[in-house]
Amino acid sequence: MNTGSSLPRDSFSTKFGVIAAAAGSAIGLGNIWRFPYETGVNGGGAFLVIYLLCILIIGLPVMISEFLIGRSAQRNPYGAFKLLAPGKPWYLIGLMGVLAAFMILAFYTVVAGWTLEYIYQSFMGSLKGKDPVQLKQMFDNFRYDSYRPVLWFAIFIILTGWVVIAGIKNGIEKYTKILMPLLLLMLISMAVYVLTLPGASAGLEFLFKPDFSKITPEVILKALGQAFFSLSIGMGTLITYGSYIKKKENLSGTALSVVGFDTFIAVLAGIAIFPAIFALTSVENFDVTRLADEGLVFITLPSILYSVPGGQILSTMFFILLAVAALTSTISVLEVIVTYFVEELKLVRRKATIVAVGSVSVLGVLSVLFTGVFSFLNFTSANILLPLGGFFIVLFVGWFLSRKVTQDELTNNGTVRARMLPVYLFLVRFIAPIAIAIVFLYGLLN
Ligand code: PHE
Repeated sequence: MNTGSSLPRDSFSTKFGVIAAAAGSAIGLGNIWRFPYETGVNGGGAFLVIYLLCILIIGLPVMISEFLIGRSAQRNPYGAFKLLAPGKPWYLIGLMGVLAAFMILAFYTVVAGWTLEYIYQSFMGSLKGKDPVQLKQMFDNFRYDSYRPVLWFAIFIILTGWVVIAGIKNGIEKYTKILMPLLLLMLISMAVYVLTLPGASAGLEFLFKPDFSKITPEVILKALGQAFFSLSIGMGTLITYGSYIKKKENLSGTALSVVGFDTFIAVLAGIAIFPAIFALTSVENFDVTRLADEGLVFITLPSILYSVPGGQILSTMFFILLAVAALTSTISVLEVIVTYFVEELKLVRRKATIVAVGSVSVLGVLSVLFTGVFSFLNFTSANILLPLGGFFIVLFVGWFLSRKVTQDELTNNGTVRARMLPVYLFLVRFIAPIAIAIVFLYGLLN
């Protein structure tokens, strides 16, 4: 399809580059911070089974849909819907995606900034010898300090902008190709080390032993919500990345790899975290609420990592990997805004990035200073905008987009076979929209 521009569009240069960037977007704080906790408190192995089902029957179809919309249109989410559905209101989904990008960046980068503080504190050894109560005190003092979290936020968003400003090939692809294997290496070595600790098997049991009595409709819906956030779907991140994928790449194969990596990393994070906790806490005294949210990563985990040999290195490494995971996600979200600014406001990339970073920072500083803003952004983007966006994206491909476009994209104009096409179409027309509608209603009613 004609891109409407005389300049050749930037693109990912290799298949590995596409996968590194898209997996980089998916793998983030959602996997390492949120997934292990959700799995732990919602039935362990049973939650995992349901999560995997959600990923396969909803997550994968939504991801393929985003990729194919982006690649066929070669545009930002707003421009893509305008082009594929001229004169129809579908472009509102694209605008909602840009809005969601602002909101996600404004709270997610705050947490990403905390990881920088904790790299520094771990490295300096200041977490050493502190019990969980002192660590909680320290975390609260830091979080409600007026300037340090703002400073780290600013550093993180500038770092994100610095990668994005260089473009797709020379920025995003270049860095994610290095950072993602690094992340994998750090996480695997951490998981292996942690598994050698005495008592580690209790953690594995807690994580993997299926407890189906904990599975309620609410837990199923939580698994679905986790799938959305973790895969970066529902707001056009992958429409944007899809628009930079070359015509020769196989879209469904790429989506399958990304989903596979994302799930693998989430499980690996659980393997690295729970045995560490159980190795040093007796199961009888174990308080599940200590696993909740920031408590897990910024309070409980350092206290445990520091009490084993090599704790300082382990803790520093853990926060570095968390920062890396967050960075490859924030760049994907910023890219949504930048591509939109470049194509719709006709700004040059440099200016678009600076304007985007500047405007996100205004909202970001508000979310650092006011916990209410932070929670509002977190709740609204993840529980409302993403499911709503995902719902309309599958409806669009399932019921509106011409079958020929879908078929051309998934078979690369008839050059590769797409045996699963009928299954995919069935999922996007019926299964996925219905399931997402349930998640969405759940999000609103609770
Ligand atoms: N998937 C990312 C994570 O798990 C978060 C994210 C959501 C990124 C939406 C982009 C879009 O941390």
